[in-house]
Amino acid sequence: MSIEIVKNIEEKILSLNTTDLIKYILENYKNVALSSSLGVEDQVLTDIIFKVNKNSRVFTLDTGRLHSETYKVMDETNLKYGVKLEVFFPKFDDVEKLYITQGVNGHFESIDNRKNCCNIRKIEPLKRALKNVDIWITGLRASQSITRTNLPVIEWDENFKVIKLNPLINWNEDDVWEYIRANKVPYNKLHDQGYPSIGCEPCTRAIKAGEDIRAGRWWWEDPEHKECGLHKK
Ligand code: ADX
Ligand code: SF4
Repeated sequence: MSIEIVKNIEEKILSLNTTDLIKYILENYKNVALSSSLGVEDQVLTDIIFKVNKNSRVFTLDTGRLHSETYKVMDETNLKYGVKLEVFFPKFDDVEKLYITQGVNGHFESIDNRKNCCNIRKIEPLKRALKNVDIWITGLRASQSITRTNLPVIEWDENFKVIKLNPLINWNEDDVWEYIRANKVPYNKLHDQGYPSIGCEPCTRAIKAGEDIRAGRWWWEDPEHKECGLHKK
């Protein structure tokens, strides 16, 4: 079944533009959801999706460590489209255990600690969010990182056992901003302050001129390995 869906969508990818592809998918498949970090790519997809159908599923993983600017754009998005984005929080007892075992900011102390924090605050909630989802839409772009260069538009995600659709994989940063401006889409104001990529507040910094766009994410780790587990190579 999944293979048939992938094959069918692969055909459509060849003939449809991004907006029409998403429209086709929302109109022809039931269990479809966008995971949104409220970053600028996800805001493009949110705009496309809610313009097709306001009842579509868009969810965010609220790790409990997000920037206040991220909550602001969440509110603005709900208001603009007349929706309420789904929010998945980490399990409170896992977060309490995390605090007891590694403190408030133990994720800086070792890669294991950091992965532990990401597992509790992102991966476990993502698994819950993807329950009953057949097609998982993400805002990944190939030019974001060397870990993403070879990603296809559609693939089977073995980790989460779901079809993963990356409709913006071939978009560049200018395409994204052109869409945002042309459609007056609300966006996270941190993007105007040197943050092209935004995750949790303690693990994201602004980048300097000439730095890679993901240089501000887990900046203390090796670039080849800094994925939190949502998107494995
Ligand atoms: S991450 O793995 O490094 O955190 P990134 O911030 O580049 O990912 O975002 C890539 C895609 O992952 C987003 O387009 C979105 O689909 C998904 N994603 C990342 N963070 C979240 C989040 N907090 N909630 C929901 N989806 C997210
Ligand atoms: Fe924890 Fe940082 Fe991962 Fe957020 S990005 S879940 S704060 S380690």
